[in-house]
Amino acid sequence: MSESKIIVALDYPDHRSALTFVDQIEPQSCKLKVGKELFTRAGPDFVRILVDKGYDVFLDLKFHDIPNTVKNACHAAADLGVWMLNVHALGGRAMLEASVEGRDKSQHSPYLIAVTVLTSMDNQALAEVGISQDAQTQVLRLAKLVDECQLDGVVCSAQEASSLRKQHTDPFLLVTPGIRPESSDKGDQKRVMTPQQAITAGASYLVIGRPITQANEPIAVLNEINQQLS
Ligand code: C5P
Repeated sequence: MSESKIIVALDYPDHRSALTFVDQIEPQSCKLKVGKELFTRAGPDFVRILVDKGYDVFLDLKFHDIPNTVKNACHAAADLGVWMLNVHALGGRAMLEASVEGRDKSQHSPYLIAVTVLTSMDNQALAEVGISQDAQTQVLRLAKLVDECQLDGVVCSAQEASSLRKQHTDPFLLVTPGIRPESSDKGDQKRVMTPQQAITAGASYLVIGRPITQANEPIAVLNEINQQLS
């Protein structure tokens, strides 16, 4: 079986509900994303449990702070044995370089990626915080900085993947949320793509939450998307 490109967002309110899902799958089925809600409730011990079960874990804590703090946070996150971790590109060059330094202090070497512009922000929201460029230009600009600072890639919307791919070829990672299989509900995601469209546009990995976790038969949906992409 080829490596799964699916990262399931474990957006569950507690570790028990998350484990109910995890215990029905295998590490080859997908990677697992632990975000701020679950991490704040279940903590590093829960991340270690997933790692010990053999899962590739994306610790999605989006660090954004002064360089020294981010360096130490990335070192601590990498020490958990996760597969991927992330920071905010808006922290700037010194912070991005410090994040690489922190990651490299660990004996583990997880992928380190950066969020460019949150997909929840449109041009008006950017203008309000003093960014006069449109979202697309800002994404390309930040991705260039991320690449220069030698991180492994960015989180971006699948809509941005094709223009980013012209600027950043493989192995620069494009990790894309906002994925919806044909049949599923969009929820609060506005600009969505199907799994196949996102991969064709250049995405390396797809973050998928509710279409899998809230489905009547989550495992069947996961298997179906894996099959579509294989
Ligand atoms: O349920 P859904 O598939 O929309 O979940 C998408 C996941 O990706 C959530 O965990 C969300 O926090 C995350 N995410 C996102 N947009 C971003 C960054 C992360 O939807 N720009």
